[in-house]
Amino acid sequence: MLTGGCPDVAVIGAGPVGLATAWRCAERGMRVTVYDPNPGSGAADVAAGMLAPVSEAHFGERALTGLLVASAARWPDFAAGLTDRTGLDLGYRTEGTLSVAVTSDDLAEAERLWAYQRELGLPITRLRPAELRDREPLLATRLRGGAFAAGDHQVDPRRLVAALRAAVAAAGVTVVARPVTTLDEVAATAARVVVAAGCGTAGLTGLPVRPVKGQVLRLRAPGGAAPGFRHVIDGYVDGRGVYLVPRLDGEVVVGATVEERADLDVTASGVLELLRAATELLPELGEYHLVEARAGLRPGTPDNAPLIGPLPGRPEVLVAAGHYRHGIVLTPLTADLVADLLTTGVTDPLLAPFAPDRFGSPDPVRAEPVRSDPVRSDPEVGVGPGGRPESA
Ligand code: GLY
Repeated sequence: MLTGGCPDVAVIGAGPVGLATAWRCAERGMRVTVYDPNPGSGAADVAAGMLAPVSEAHFGERALTGLLVASAARWPDFAAGLTDRTGLDLGYRTEGTLSVAVTSDDLAEAERLWAYQRELGLPITRLRPAELRDREPLLATRLRGGAFAAGDHQVDPRRLVAALRAAVAAAGVTVVARPVTTLDEVAATAARVVVAAGCGTAGLTGLPVRPVKGQVLRLRAPGGAAPGFRHVIDGYVDGRGVYLVPRLDGEVVVGATVEERADLDVTASGVLELLRAATELLPELGEYHLVEARAGLRPGTPDNAPLIGPLPGRPEVLVAAGHYRHGIVLTPLTADLVADLLTTGVTDPLLAPFAPDRFGSPDPVRAEPVRSDPVRSDPEVGVGPGGRPESA
């Protein structure tokens, strides 16, 4: 336990979680150094940025849903504070999320989940097809039904990272653009270490974090116009999930595949699956320009919930990783509670279900030196750099 005074802190990983944690620590008077060979180039550079604790509330994940709700509640202040501090727009939008089902089978599946979400007391309202199209006139006519989660918002993760980088620079944080391959390399330089290295956390700590690949597309409305819809659309399409995230600058993010693989290849079938589902929901998207196809790696854990707290056997090391599909929404809460823990030595009760020791001791075999770049077998597919493993 840490008591008295402010420690020097080394943060490994300059994704949103690592940068926000560094920012919060610097605000509390700590001297902070962040290590990352390519700041901001990880999963957040691919992520859509849905802040969706309701739409992402799934069966068997009650504790995780509580954490998502608590972090989403911090987003308005977090976004306003970051914009105040940096003058940068995060693309934070609050129109809400429409969940929509295309076939009657899709509707049956979605209705079970919406009922479960309502049982948890989450704010979600059923909508008939005509009500869906009142909200979004360009939605396909064959939709069977939907629901509206007014509190499920969105942010642009690339803008978020740019703002966090500006905020940490203004707060005096040092960012060192080099890889870290073992914990001891940085443990020698700082009293406390925070591991926010996404999938790279496994190699640094021996904790069970695995990469889960997601292919994501970016479309643009023709002529530089804004997209013809304004809500995030979370679709059930012939048994598959797809989401559409419209940005005011004309971008539409279409995501995502969920693949238990660690490569960053963009495949024809992945792109086909996403485009087919997207145009089933909003036929107009067929006329948009396909401007980017990328893959990223979500840091998954055995229960797909994050690892936040002391590393077993190394109390000077805190882990803030394994955020899987929820790295962006969980950024404010993770950063605040890790900074609180470093300051007070007290773990917030909200974090109890997410302790890194819940899967037993770290596995030394897993803790191999971290490779800084995952393999992409064909880098010539017109996709940008897929990024290193990092929190999504
Ligand atoms: N957060 C959405 C995804 O991981 O695809």
